[in-house]
Amino acid sequence: MRMVDIIEKKRDGGTLTKEEIHFFVKGYSDGTIPDYQASALCMAIVFRGMDEIETAELTDAMMHSGDTIDLSSVDGVVIDKHSTGGVGDKTSLALGPLVAACGAKLGKMSGRGLGHTGGTLDKMESIPGMKIFLSEKEFIDQINKIGISIIGQTKEIDPADKKLYALRDVTGTVPAIPLIASSIMSKKLAAGSQAILLDVKFGDGAFMKTLDSARELANEMVKIGKRMGRDTRAVLTDMDQPLGLAVGNSLEVKEAIATLKGEGPEDFNELCLSCGSILLQQAKIVYDLEEGRKMIQKAIDDGSGLRKLAEFVKAQGGDPNYILHPELFPLAKHIVPIYSERSGYIRHIDSLSIGLSSMKLGGGREKISDAIDYDAGILLCKKVGHRVEKGEILCYAHTNKEGVESVFQQIKDSFHIQNEKVEIPPIVHDYLH
Ligand code: URA
Repeated sequence: MRMVDIIEKKRDGGTLTKEEIHFFVKGYSDGTIPDYQASALCMAIVFRGMDEIETAELTDAMMHSGDTIDLSSVDGVVIDKHSTGGVGDKTSLALGPLVAACGAKLGKMSGRGLGHTGGTLDKMESIPGMKIFLSEKEFIDQINKIGISIIGQTKEIDPADKKLYALRDVTGTVPAIPLIASSIMSKKLAAGSQAILLDVKFGDGAFMKTLDSARELANEMVKIGKRMGRDTRAVLTDMDQPLGLAVGNSLEVKEAIATLKGEGPEDFNELCLSCGSILLQQAKIVYDLEEGRKMIQKAIDDGSGLRKLAEFVKAQGGDPNYILHPELFPLAKHIVPIYSERSGYIRHIDSLSIGLSSMKLGGGREKISDAIDYDAGILLCKKVGHRVEKGEILCYAHTNKEGVESVFQQIKDSFHIQNEKVEIPPIVHDYLH
C-alpha cells in the first residue's frame, strides 16, 4: 500500500477502506509516513469529508494506537461526562459528586487548561494536597469505593491523536467534523467508560461557533460511540456567555461548592440537573429523566453531594476542610470592580474575551509549561438578560498582578449592553441520544 494512493483517492472524493485508514494511522504514529503526506490527507478530508464508516474506522485506529483502560473490574456501569471546552466550566466538580452521591460510578480523565479555556485538573489542584495522578489500580479502587475518581492521563492514551492534532493545528486542518469527532471520541473510548455524555458547547467561547455546527459534531460523535457499543448521548449547551458566574480556578471550585449547597447560579445549577438526570439514566439508576432530576435535587438538598465532594477530595489526598469551609481559599491581592459605563440590558458577554482576560490576570496559561495562579480570575455580577445601571458593578477582576489595567478594559468591553429588554437564554438547547 502506498500513502500517495490513499491521498489521491481521498482528493478525488473516494471512500477509504478500513485497511487504508489503519495503514495511515499506524504509519503516521510510527514515523514511516511523513508530516507532509499526513497533512495532505487531512486537507483532502477537510474538503471531501468522510462517511460514517470511515470516521468510525479512523476513531478505532486512533483509539488502538496506544494504551486503553479496562474498567471491567468496576462494579456497575462506569459513566463519563466530557465537555468540548468552555469558559467557567466547572461542571465535573459539582456533577461528578452529585451522581456519585446517587450511587453512580464516574471515572474520568481530564486535562489542563490552555488559552481561554480552563481545565478540571488545574481546578482540582487549587485544593491543597489534591493529587491528580493515580495508578490504574488506585483509580479503579477509588471508583469502586466512593463512586468517583477524576485523574490526569498517565498511560499513553491515543498517541496517534496527539501527533495528528499537533499537525492539524499548524496546517489549517482542524475544522473538519470527521477529524474532530474521531479525535475526541478515540480518547474517550480508550479511557474505558461504558456510557458517555458529551456536553457540546457552541458560541464565541466554544470550539463550535453555531448551534448547527455543534449539532453536526454531536451527531457524529454519538453515532461513533454507539457503533462502538457505548451508550453515547450529547447535550448542546450555550457558551455565548461564561457558564455560571466564576471564571478562574479556586473561584470555580468555590462556585461548585456553592452549587452543591443549593446556592449556585441558575444556569450552572440547571446544567447539573439536566446532565445529572441523563447520567443517572445511563448508569441505570433511574428509568426516566424526571426521576433523575428529583434524585439530583435531593443530593443537593440533603448535602450528600457536598459530602461526596469532600470524600472525593480526601481520597485523592486533598484537604476536605477547604470544601466544608471554602473561606479558607486565599483571595487574590487585588479584587477590582469593573463598572458599567451605560444603563441597559446585557445582550452578550464575550466568553472568549473573558477567558483570555482571566488568563492574563494569571488564572490561565498561554503555553502548557506556564505556571498558573489559582486565586486569579473573574467573578461576574451580571449575566445575559440582566438589567444594569450606569456605574453599577458588572464583575470583579481577581489578580495578584500589577499593571494589568488594559485587561480591566478588555473585561469591560466583553459586556455588550443594549436598551431593549433581553430574554434570559436557556443553557441546554438540545439533547441527542
Ligand atoms: N478537541 C480535540 O480533542 N480534538 C479536536 O480535533 C478538536 C478539539
